[in-house]
Amino acid sequence: MHLDLSRRAAVAERLRAAGCVFADAEAGLLVAEAGSATQLGRLVEQRVAGTPLEHLLGWAEFCGRRVEVAAGSFVPRRRSGLLVRRACELVAAGDVLVDLCCGSGAIGLVIAETVRGVDLHAVDIDPAAASVATRNLAPVDGTAYTGDLFAPLPQGLRGRVAVVVANAPYVPTAEIGLLPHEARDHEPAVALDGGRDGVEVHRRIAADVRHWLRPSGWVLLETSRTQAELTDAALTGSGLTTVSWYDDELDATVVGATTP
Ligand SMILES: C[S@@+](CC[C@H](N)C(=O)[O-])C[C@H]1O[C@@H](n2cnc3c(N)ncnc32)[C@H](O)[C@@H]1O
Repeated sequence: MHLDLSRRAAVAERLRAAGCVFADAEAGLLVAEAGSATQLGRLVEQRVAGTPLEHLLGWAEFCGRRVEVAAGSFVPRRRSGLLVRRACELVAAGDVLVDLCCGSGAIGLVIAETVRGVDLHAVDIDPAAASVATRNLAPVDGTAYTGDLFAPLPQGLRGRVAVVVANAPYVPTAEIGLLPHEARDHEPAVALDGGRDGVEVHRRIAADVRHWLRPSGWVLLETSRTQAELTDAALTGSGLTTVSWYDDELDATVVGATTP
């Protein structure tokens, strides 16, 4: 116990010196994770070099749960809690929920844990992400597929989906270089790069989503405040009626759309 406390203090000091804002909390997590002093030393050096804490731990906290994340994959962001909240208000037990661009599956997982009995299908183009999502979604009987947007979904879901959620990549290509280096250097470009104006994936989702939604179904896209207008235009351009939600505390923006 005493050894752990002094190790923790030393690790916190090292992390603080390297500029870690939450040095004490991170030190506690790294000490708990490490099986030996050698492993702890390695983890601390990787963290000091900029590896995201979540990649070192193998999990991220999201909406109060621990969600497995693979090294080199997208780390779920706190701001996606807004997307989760809105979806939970629109989906009910027995409904089909689709989580596109699911990454680790965190968003669909929390919705399905909150609204029990949802029939969850999640898709990611990155096989490593889809494989983590398969494990994360097992407790809620969700299915994860590898592929491009709607392409791998079972055809039988066409016209039956109550809610599609997507935290798709939405950073404009030219702004990738401005992201914090933890994202830029440790998360894949396919998870971040939303094309020239950041909403190219949103346009592709908007173009196809009506084939999949049931009457009065919803599609909810996480976006940024500055891109909300473009995301909205993509959805209205597909004949959908839109609404935007903001959460200043989370710095979150979601554009939702339903069939008129
Ligand atoms: C911003 S990350 C979000 C991951 C997850 N939704 C979350 O919030 O934690 C975007 C994800 O979209 C996936 N992706 C990018 N283009 C895709 C496409 N065309 N089809 C399916 N997934 C895609 C990436 O691999 C990445 O996992």
